[in-house]
Amino acid sequence: MSEEEKSKKVYKTIEDLPGIGPATAQKLRNLGFHTVEALATATIRELAPAGIGEKKASEIIFAARSSLTLSFIRADELLKMRQNVLRLTTGSKALDRLLDGGLETQAITEFYGEYGSGKSQLCHQLCVNVQLPPERGGLDGGALYIDTENTFRTERIVQMAKHLGLDPQEVVRNIIYAEAYTSDHQIFLLENSDEIIKENNIKLIVIDSLTAHFRSEYLGREMLAARQQKLNKHLHKLIRLARVFNAVAVVTNQVMAKPDVFFGDSVHPVGGHIVAHTSHTRVYLRKTSRGPVRIARLVSSPYLPEGEDVFKITENGIEDIAEDEKTGRR
Ligand code: GTP
Ligand code: MG
Repeated sequence: MSEEEKSKKVYKTIEDLPGIGPATAQKLRNLGFHTVEALATATIRELAPAGIGEKKASEIIFAARSSLTLSFIRADELLKMRQNVLRLTTGSKALDRLLDGGLETQAITEFYGEYGSGKSQLCHQLCVNVQLPPERGGLDGGALYIDTENTFRTERIVQMAKHLGLDPQEVVRNIIYAEAYTSDHQIFLLENSDEIIKENNIKLIVIDSLTAHFRSEYLGREMLAARQQKLNKHLHKLIRLARVFNAVAVVTNQVMAKPDVFFGDSVHPVGGHIVAHTSHTRVYLRKTSRGPVRIARLVSSPYLPEGEDVFKITENGIEDIAEDEKTGRR
């Protein structure tokens, strides 16, 4: 161990950080900063509502950063982070191939498509898969599920867990569930999730659906800018959590059946525009005339080429399609 490492302070709770007494700690918690990790990725301005001045805020953030193994400012550190990226299997080899090995940690993957296209089913499957060991494509971690449409089903998790030979009780226990009643509530839940993520070794954060509340609450053109701003901030929080905890972040977004028409119209609020982020992979899901078969199209990724492939939704969950099924023969 080097001298530098020996002298490095490790702060376990936010109270341990220099200049944070019980009252300030409480104010920070009220703002959603429960952990040293969260403070490490905070901005000076975000701490102002806790009555913390610029100088002190910068000291706190610096101390929080220095106590983490990963820092979030220098480019060489960024490279180091990149090397820590892990991948989570979807359950379909075809889909995993499309994503170059599965869903990445430290990034947001958005599944969008019309109703019944399989967005929520994929989210359920990922909640189970994340609990698998790495050699089976998992991350040995738990899942956090923020459900805005009340479509999460424990029974479905049990079904999928059994198929993978996992103990269903255990699998269900490792999923932390929260129903969001409004967009503000949804924002609040995520803002306050850092401690839960840390304590439960959460490696997958799901927001299903990301956009439904925003869409129904922010109606009309004049609300659009406000909506986008809120959504952006929400996504920003999500990416920071995904980075600091090396977790996979998944969001769903319902769009109408004709995405081309929809994407051509930049103001119409019915659709699912969310401002593209640099760490953001978008997968478009489509139903087919062949019952359980779905088409997944990788629409945009920071570095992967576009492409598409098929998978199916069965009793077992998300699965590959047998070769003879692909060609239409059965
Ligand atoms: P919205 O939330 O309405 O936008 O749709 P979604 O994209 O989330 O659709 P979801 O993931 O809920 O997919 C629903 C489809 O999955 C159903 O139409 C079924 O085809 C399939 N599905 C869901 N549960 C089961 C199940 O237990 N068994 C089987 N075989 N298929 C299922
Ligand atoms: Mg759904």
